[in-house]
Amino acid sequence: MEILSKTKEERLIKLSKAFSPSSPIKKTDFFFGRIEQLSNVCDAINEQGQHAILFGERGVGKTSLANKMTESFTNLFPVIVTCNRKDTFNNIWTQALGKVQHSKTIKGIGFKPTDIEQFVNLGTYINPKSENFQSDIISLLNNYKKYTFLFIFDEFDNIINDRTREDFADLIKSFSDNVTNSTIVLVGIADDIETLIGNHQSLERCLKQVKMPRMSKKECEEIIDNGLALLDIKISPKVKEKIIEFASGFPHYVHLLCKYGAQEIIENNKYEFSQGYLNIAIKKGIDNTNEQLKASYRKAIVGTKKWQDIIFACTQSPIDTYNCINKMDIIKNYNIISSSNVSGGTISYNLKQFCSADRGNVLTKIGSGINTRYRFTNPMMRAFVKLKINSN
Ligand SMILES: Nc1ncnc2c1ncn2[C@@H]1O[C@H](COP(=O)(O)OP(=O)(O)O)[C@@H](O)[C@H]1O
Ligand SMILES: [Mg+2]
Repeated sequence: MEILSKTKEERLIKLSKAFSPSSPIKKTDFFFGRIEQLSNVCDAINEQGQHAILFGERGVGKTSLANKMTESFTNLFPVIVTCNRKDTFNNIWTQALGKVQHSKTIKGIGFKPTDIEQFVNLGTYINPKSENFQSDIISLLNNYKKYTFLFIFDEFDNIINDRTREDFADLIKSFSDNVTNSTIVLVGIADDIETLIGNHQSLERCLKQVKMPRMSKKECEEIIDNGLALLDIKISPKVKEKIIEFASGFPHYVHLLCKYGAQEIIENNKYEFSQGYLNIAIKKGIDNTNEQLKASYRKAIVGTKKWQDIIFACTQSPIDTYNCINKMDIIKNYNIISSSNVSGGTISYNLKQFCSADRGNVLTKIGSGINTRYRFTNPMMRAFVKLKINSN
């Protein structure tokens, strides 16, 4: 008989490390996949005058990749700043420089002088109120030529002030001409870089665009296999396949289902992730998901079953490269789900309503006329609806 060495408590402690649906990955041991995106950012760092912008949907793993970047390079000083709505250009950079600490030896005075080791941060060398703030940053960094810096600005989409974004665009341009020891990486939710930094053709040359796609099946599989192995849990290919299918490319849901399934398995001193445990994981996962998603879904399906069937049909419809679905596919899937045979017009009213606040804005309409497409306003809704329907 196989000897299993871990106690229940040990397994539960490991569980909290292996699966973390609500927080980005901080430790490299639990970071999987994303090799192409990481290597693209690496290229920008290694190439002088190049900076990068990492963009993608909410929840695909941008912050985790930003954390991974800070651990991946041993020869540079990494700084991450999370941008807030109210931040101005000057205070974001003062924060960033404040995170660069170095020690300085000050000569003692008196008869028996002893040198004093003092920690200072670069933030103290800059005046946030300066009129020439941009050139102050450049001169300051140029004083530290023997160091290399990586400045990552996460949640850049939070910055709503156009002036602040423009200042970043200007600074990136100046950096590529005047600063050789620093790379700037902007990270944020967006479909394209214009949404994040505006239309700056002059940035094209110095700003590498790195799109963070949803996770591939293989990447999701890596998270499941590695996490479960750590907990001595086996999973059949069929159940694993289902978790991946539910997650729809969002690592959050992979973590969520694995966490609640594994928790139940460990509590029962078991070692097999069966369909039964997946059912429990789905129920618990739904209870523990984002309140906003739950509320929006509740609003969307109020009334007859038709509302729920159409939303479900949306999740079954193929997406294009912009994550949009079209009405023909929705109607086709609606007919299958509700065993009916209706035409597109029958659901037009419902689709329009789904785009309104009354129905939780679950969908957003893109384009018009024959080019009309729909998209889940919160991309994670797709996975949530699938879980919800399966828990009924
Ligand atoms: N490369 C990865 N390997 C394992 N888990 C990941 C990875 N990237 C993201 N995750 C998980 O996915 C969820 C969302 O990640 P996060 O980095 O917060 O996304 P974003 O910043 O794009 O919203 C978190 O639970 C995180 O632990
Ligand atoms: Mg993030």
